[in-house]
Amino acid sequence: MGQPATNPPDRPSRGFSTRAIRAATTAPVVDQRPNSVPLYLSATFSAADAEELGAIATGARPGYAYARLDNPTGAALAQAIATIEGAEAARVFASGMAAIHAALASVLRAGDRVLATTAIYGSTRSLLANQFGRLGVSTTFVDATDLAAVETELAAVPTSVLYVETISNPTIVVADIVALAGIAHAHGALLIVDNTFASPYLCRPIELGADLVVESATKFIGGHSDVLAGVVAGSRQLIDAIRLVEIDTGGTLSPLSAFLVLRGLTTLAVRMERHAATARVLAAWLETEPAVLRVIYPGLPSHPQHALAARQFPIGGGMLAFEVVGGRAGGGAFIDALTIPELTASLGSIHTIVAHPPTTTHRQLSDLELKHAGIAAGLLRCSVGLEDLEDLRLDFAGGLAAAAAALAAEATPDSSVAGADVLPVGA
Ligand SMILES: Cc1ncc(COP(=O)(O)O)c(C=O)c1O
Repeated sequence: MGQPATNPPDRPSRGFSTRAIRAATTAPVVDQRPNSVPLYLSATFSAADAEELGAIATGARPGYAYARLDNPTGAALAQAIATIEGAEAARVFASGMAAIHAALASVLRAGDRVLATTAIYGSTRSLLANQFGRLGVSTTFVDATDLAAVETELAAVPTSVLYVETISNPTIVVADIVALAGIAHAHGALLIVDNTFASPYLCRPIELGADLVVESATKFIGGHSDVLAGVVAGSRQLIDAIRLVEIDTGGTLSPLSAFLVLRGLTTLAVRMERHAATARVLAAWLETEPAVLRVIYPGLPSHPQHALAARQFPIGGGMLAFEVVGGRAGGGAFIDALTIPELTASLGSIHTIVAHPPTTTHRQLSDLELKHAGIAAGLLRCSVGLEDLEDLRLDFAGGLAAAAAALAAEATPDSSVAGADVLPVGA
């Protein structure tokens, strides 16, 4: 028999509605520890008296008052994220972009400058260039694999933030976090790292010297394509400033979403091992296929930064990119021929997801910007799911046959086939 709710029975003289509301919103007291974090779907939390409520609302004492300020399920997730990231504190948000926005907004003001990697997620580029740009923050993009270029940029102009991705979207460029942290700090800049593609299982940027790590927990951390969420972790001081942005802008994670992300986090390690094991075999096989022009996977010796990747990650991860013959038509034919992968824009899921960045995640970029970001017309980005390897390999073989057929059907060869107009990754 469970424990009763705490409220004594209401006075029978009260009306039906009063009694129903009070009776149906009385939370049980549970002395035994639940083995998963309870879902606190309450927007408000009652204090013992006005003074306690005031102290909680202003942050003078810990506790809960209004779920946008803090809610217990979200706080449990934030604590879990801080723990696994090796950080002092963390906050959780309604999406990865809400997390990235809050992290940047907490440290930037008009007149500031951001130095960001060219190999960057399309919406982050747009957030920096358009939204922060409108507010008087300037952003310069640099190839963050070129440490000398980063150093030159930071030495030339005072810079508040150096912003990179551990493994970039979609070109799978690997950032040298230790080196970049050293350079950023030497020039008085904070290093913010988007670790979405790696996940904290592969890489923990705070332990490598980053000031803040941001992640779309919609991806590997949540892992099941059923929740949108974002996280930020770092020092207590930086996270306290981020909390103030969160409270004022309202990008708070819902308790239900926090519950789902917590559940994802418990299996992150086993999922990442399986994602990476399948991705490695697929990548090595794709490299031997004539319809594939190049494969970019950090776990393969052919990756331009394989040594760095091996130093930074125990395994190659679940993300790979490859360029098929036939340029834009070849890429389109490949994904249209697939029968297992989902044709959608996300990643880091149980499902294998193959994307054609020029028409999805990087559609904001002009042809020239695409070229400078190292994105060839036939580039496919693949987030390897948890399906059976041989089924995926067979399906991909069908996609490659379709790309080869698209190439054959082209009256004039696409210049990207020869790689002539494609800048090397990271260039
Ligand atoms: C590297 C990276 N960062 C951030 C985001 C944004 O995450 P969300 O869609 O959860 O806002 C994405 C989304 O694809 C991403 O790929």
